[in-house]
Amino acid sequence: MELESVIKNRRSIRKFKNESLKQEELNYIFECARLAPSAHNRQPWKYLVFTGDEKCKLEGLISDYLTNKIELSYHEKIMRNCLKFIKDAPVFTLVYSTLEENTLNDYISLGASIEHICLSAKDIGVGSLWLGVILEFEEIIAKNYNVDNMKLISAVILGYPDEEPASRPRKDISEIVEYI
Ligand SMILES: Cc1cc2nc3c(=O)[nH]c(=O)nc-3n(C[C@H](O)[C@H](O)[C@H](O)COP(=O)(O)O)c2cc1C
Repeated sequence: MELESVIKNRRSIRKFKNESLKQEELNYIFECARLAPSAHNRQPWKYLVFTGDEKCKLEGLISDYLTNKIELSYHEKIMRNCLKFIKDAPVFTLVYSTLEENTLNDYISLGASIEHICLSAKDIGVGSLWLGVILEFEEIIAKNYNVDNMKLISAVILGYPDEEPASRPRKDISEIVEYI
């Protein structure tokens, strides 16, 4: 696909076909993530990819936590809604930073790499959803997985899209670009 078309037509996907992705597709997507630019070329990213039973286990962990909690925070309620579409997506990726201390530029680098995932997925017909709300669950994930010395940054779910959402509004170019 042309780059312009990928950028213009990528959408956050919240309805997925219950169908596995091919390993070659995942290889392509994470190869593109690997090639992202990073501050001082530090490449601070680590992607933990959950599929099949492991994905169900992670999903179950979050779901049980939410079910057992008496009062949910704003973000926990958002996650409860997100669980509906996470269930269908075949791939759940946790994005970690491998650095002990992250500068603002490291966070920006991680974002660049995640965007490479979303764009490369679109390029091959795979839908993605960037899930910032996962940050609320860093502690409970850390209790159940070996993520020592890493910091949770975000999550991305991937799968074949089962919807074609309209584009969300964007600011006008005149609002965001100022030639000096
Ligand atoms: C850092 C970041 C965190 C996000 N977190 C969530 C999230 O937790 N849940 C969700 O449904 N969408 C999330 N999104 C998706 C945004 O809502 C979406 O990108 C925005 O509304 C624009 O829509 P579009 O991606 O279809 O163009 C996130 C996007 C980014 C970049």
